[in-house]
Amino acid sequence: MDLQAQHEEEPAAQPSIDGLVIPREGSGSGASGGAEQPQEFPVPAPLDRHGPARVIALCNQKGGVGKTTTTINLGAALAEYGRRVLLVDFDPQGALSVGLGVRAHDGRDTIYDLLMAPARELDTPAAVRTTSVPGLDVLPADIDLSAAEVQLVNEVAREHALERVLRPVLGDYDVVLIDCQPSLGLLTVNALTAAHGVLIPLETEYFALRGVALLVETIEKVTDRLNPLLRIDGILPTMVDGRTLHSREVVASVTDHFGELVLTTPIRRTVKFPDATLASEPITTYAPSHAGAEAYRRLARELVARGACA
Ligand SMILES: Nc1ncnc2c1ncn2[C@@H]1O[C@H](COP(=O)(O)OP(=O)(O)OP(=O)(O)O)[C@@H](O)[C@H]1O
Ligand SMILES: [Mg+2]
Repeated sequence: MDLQAQHEEEPAAQPSIDGLVIPREGSGSGASGGAEQPQEFPVPAPLDRHGPARVIALCNQKGGVGKTTTTINLGAALAEYGRRVLLVDFDPQGALSVGLGVRAHDGRDTIYDLLMAPARELDTPAAVRTTSVPGLDVLPADIDLSAAEVQLVNEVAREHALERVLRPVLGDYDVVLIDCQPSLGLLTVNALTAAHGVLIPLETEYFALRGVALLVETIEKVTDRLNPLLRIDGILPTMVDGRTLHSREVVASVTDHFGELVLTTPIRRTVKFPDATLASEPITTYAPSHAGAEAYRRLARELVARGACA
């Protein structure tokens, strides 16, 4: 199928996989997804006003696939393009907070405190921490968040707890990125309920597709029961090693499977990412001209071109 031609013709029907709506705005995705960089995406135009935010959850129940790295660096790249970005650390490991040098224990509320706060005490704006990157803010987490999963079970509207926490600040941001923990439990369901879109980082290794069916099933359930407007914004190949046949084959098979959902910006494997984390900085400031920084800028441009964010 000539996907490029299909884009140009703008098919009448909204494309879908397993009933999930795939965004059609812009283009740039296609059968070559991930393996090459077939086209450039324009630098996003400056915004004359900010908000309301589009909320994107970064989900994959497999650990270590690049969820946190992508949240930090995509957020930093969008902030470079003048977007106001809020990152939500929604993992009790708190890796996102640490990776940006944000202390959860500074006396202010963490995301856990906000989830548990009674209505009269909920003050989300006061819990927002700034980072060294202008325009990039964080709601931090720490190990306390692991208790939320159990504590929320008995709450009214337990799946909507994060949505309630974020509502008061949506108007202040253009994009909210939620860094999920590697599980499909209640916290992740909360993230999917609060989100408009899901971005799935997928490590390019042979068993990458294992587990994605279960993730898609969870997304479908949330779409069906809790959040009908939720859609998959894209599948992002991470830890790509373009030199190996193995890596290229995996990207090709993921693309065969998911077609246009696969983003065309591959994130290659490089030690600069763990290095940047150790320095508590996004790669975009730690090594601004490194290919890894460029890749996340390109991803930001691709997502804007696809209409996944402002
Ligand atoms: N493109 C990359 N190249 C090399 N290393 C990477 C890359 N992306 C992430 N890493 C490293 O791999 C490890 C896992 O990445 P990351 O923490 O982003 O994954 P995660 O999906 O958030 O993990 P978890 O499921 O535990 O939350 C980290 O040490 C990170 O620095
Ligand atoms: Mg993580």
